[in-house]
Parts: sequence; C-alpha cells; structure tokens
Amino acid sequence: MSLRRDLHAAARDAGVSDPRLLEAIQRTPRREFVPPEYAEDADIDEPVPIPHQQVTSQPSLSARMIDALELRGDGQVLEVGTGYGYQTALLARLAKQVVSIERFGSLAEAARANLARHGTANVQVVTGDGTQGWPAAAPYDAILVSAAFPVVPPPLVEQLVEGGRLVQPIGSGGAEEVILFGRTADGLQRLRKVSPARFVRLTGRHGFAD
Ligand SMILES: C[S@@+](CC[C@H](N)C(=O)[O-])C[C@H]1O[C@@H](n2cnc3c(N)ncnc32)[C@H](O)[C@@H]1O
Repeated sequence: MSLRRDLHAAARDAGVSDPRLLEAIQRTPRREFVPPEYAEDADIDEPVPIPHQQVTSQPSLSARMIDALELRGDGQVLEVGTGYGYQTALLARLAKQVVSIERFGSLAEAARANLARHGTANVQVVTGDGTQGWPAAAPYDAILVSAAFPVVPPPLVEQLVEGGRLVQPIGSGGAEEVILFGRTADGLQRLRKVSPARFVRLTGRHGFAD
C-alpha cells in the first residue's frame, strides 16, 4: 500500500478549513524541516524522529492546533517546543511575530537554519525552558505548547493577553488530550478538546523533571 503524500489534503481531512492556514501549508515544504534522511517521506502525514530522542509533530495535528488559535495575521505568538521548525514556519505565515523556545540548543540551531533557508524572517528562535515563557517579548496573543504536561505552566498564563488563546496537550506524555484554553480576567478557561494525541513530555521548571 502506498502512503498518500499530500499534507494539504491531510489537514483538510482533519477538519481544517481556514484558507490562510491551508495556503500556508501549501507554501511551506516540510522537506526543508526534517533531517535529510527523512526528506523523501516528508509529505506523508506522520511524525519523524529528530535528535535527542524527540519527534516532530504529525503535520495534520499541528494544523489543527494552529487552527484552534484563530490567528489573524497581526498577533504576537509564543511557541514552546520548536523541534526542526516546521510548525514555527506555519505560525510565522499567520502571525506578525513568533517567539519559539526549544530546550535543546542543537535543535534550536537546526530550526534557525531551516527557517533562514526558507526565508522566514519574523521568528526569533531561542534556547531555553519554555515552561517559563519568554517574558522579554510578552504579552502574547496566542501560545502553542507542543509537548505534554498535566497542567498549563503558570508563567504562560501570565504572559497571555486577556482574550488570548492557548493550546496544549494535557497529560503525562504518550496519551493525552490537546485542549484549547481562553484567557479571562480570572485565569484560564477550558474552551474545548481539539484532539487526542501522543506527545513528548514537557520538561522544565514548571514541567517534568529531566
Ligand atoms: C513534538 S516535538 C517538536 C514539535 C515541533 N513544534 C514540530 O513542528 O514538529 C516537542 C519539542 O518540545 C521540546 N521541549 C520539551 N520541553 C521543552 C521546554 N520546557 N522548553 C522548550 N522546549 C521543550 C522538545 O525538545 C521537542 O523538540
């Protein structure tokens, strides 16, 4: 059986209908954001391994998480967990500015190189602990966390504007639910479940211990 090589169709089949996001997927070749040995299969809707025992997100799931944020193109966005930068590149097409935090310096370096080669300019990739957010560029209109933890790290709530949206896999890593939250004056309000998922663990001061 041959696997379908069409990420645009995979996102549509997963329920994504926002034309701006679908166009972003069409204009962002994933082969530029995976290790070279996986480039040939980059258009298959599957995660691929990256160094440090991590894996990239499944593209259609990334698309659903981005879709849930309802970005309008003018926002300040924080991404926690850059990986090789594919999701970052999609976010950059739908935001004014993106800050993306990756805990492993070599992954952040690879993502920076991939994004630069692709011509993405409105992104700052930083190495650090994303559970602490990135106060220097806060507040954020939207936050996407692409690693799993049972609760949303409090610094991320503090750095999200009132009315802003946050999406995170809630669970212990391996079998969790991606949840969309909205920021109110009182804190976070759960809006809806986006998808079941299997993510790597969120590791850091407000996440799992190393
Ligand atoms: C699912 S992977 C990468 C997803 C990526 N956004 C993509 O498009 O494929 C999750 C990433 O989160 C990173 N990570 C885990 N805990 C982190 C933390 N506290 N701060 C920053 N990055 C973290 C991992 O190193 C890993 O690269």
